[in-house]
Amino acid sequence: MNQAINFIQSKTTIKPEIGIILGSGLGDFAETIENPTRIPYGDIPGFKESTVQGHSGELIIGTLKGKNIVAMKGRIHFYEGFDIQDVVYPVKILCGLGIDKLIVTNAAGGVNRSFKPGTLMLINDHINFNGKNPLIGPNDPVGDRFPDMSYAYDRTLLDKVKNIAKDLNVAYETGVYMYMTGPSYETPAEVRMAGILGADAVGMSTVPEVIIARHRGVKVIGISCITNMAAGILDQPLDHEEVIRISAEVSGEFKKLVTGIVEGI
Ligand code: HPA
Repeated sequence: MNQAINFIQSKTTIKPEIGIILGSGLGDFAETIENPTRIPYGDIPGFKESTVQGHSGELIIGTLKGKNIVAMKGRIHFYEGFDIQDVVYPVKILCGLGIDKLIVTNAAGGVNRSFKPGTLMLINDHINFNGKNPLIGPNDPVGDRFPDMSYAYDRTLLDKVKNIAKDLNVAYETGVYMYMTGPSYETPAEVRMAGILGADAVGMSTVPEVIIARHRGVKVIGISCITNMAAGILDQPLDHEEVIRISAEVSGEFKKLVTGIVEGI
């Protein structure tokens, strides 16, 4: 890990305070970063490269609204066959670079029937339905053996984000994100179950990263772009092209919100 951190620090003098993980189709935000140093994942010791279309892998370190930030354009997923440790390795590096806040973003299916494709959902909690926890194993002394997850998505930051969204006139919902392994989309029965269990959205990422960030004391903001209604809610099949298309359509609002957040937190 130190090798990766040293490698990244040899490429830039910027010390990032905010990390951003850009989900499916949301990578465009990276283009707004000023003074960027771009490092392909393949160059960073220990980083694995995503195999998913719409997830090109690059670390971008730069500034935005006077803040030092590091963005991950693309992430790797458990469903690609990687070990859960490989999935969370990049977020350990972001934490190692010294960030104290992490903005995690993803594309997700809407379980809450009041949502529409294109809704931005501020995550206020999650359900880890993968069953795998990236902290399983010997305790990493950077954090507690049993980290508290009562406020996994920082309440003070969440309140700030809501105010920022209101000021910018960006519509949002709030809700619970449920993490499924994928890569098959859920069945309609699984989506009904998710709703009964308290989920507002389902997706295939984010939760392992949030667990690692919290273990390291990094405060988290989560944003889901609801790209489709989850399976069975509408009488139509789901497909990845649609996910990418809707996230691209929302990318203007998304960029506006994330830029406002970077400025305001
Ligand atoms: N389910 C899981 N992950 C997703 C979905 C979905 O419906 N849409 C985008 N990512």
